[in-house]
Amino acid sequence: MGTRVARSRMDVSKLVEVLTAAYASEWLAYYQYWLGAKLVRGADEGRVAAELTLHATEELAHAVLVADRIIQLGGAPVTQPRDWRASRPASTDAPDDPWVGTLLDQNIVGEQCAISVYKDIMDLTREKDPVTYNVALGILQQEVEHEEDLQS
Ligand SMILES: [Fe+2]
Ligand SMILES: [Fe+2]
Repeated sequence: MGTRVARSRMDVSKLVEVLTAAYASEWLAYYQYWLGAKLVRGADEGRVAAELTLHATEELAHAVLVADRIIQLGGAPVTQPRDWRASRPASTDAPDDPWVGTLLDQNIVGEQCAISVYKDIMDLTREKDPVTYNVALGILQQEVEHEEDLQS
């Protein structure tokens, strides 16, 4: 079935640990985009806000995919939101400065961190756990799109 993993060839607890970090990062990214969309001020703020709201929705969808995979692997997603920051590898700065340039720069750094986390997950699972590999690949493609959107 889809949950099969070549356990003898892969450290599942290590994989769950990295997925847990990714999961926490997705919630933090969701919140950063969601709030940023409301606060953003500056050139083209309406268009930027719409884009940030779309990104927020997609980050939440990533959290769903990662949580499902953690559970399939026998792990448990972070149960306390206060633990999200401790688990996260990604940079998620608070949108305290609503100027559009600052906000977008913070989000770009967050996306670059997310891209490197999903690359790590792909390295861990390549030819060992195709299900997790494909989940990570799908999310990675969207994170790359996010970064390109923000850069433009
Ligand atoms: Fe994401
Ligand atoms: Fe993203």
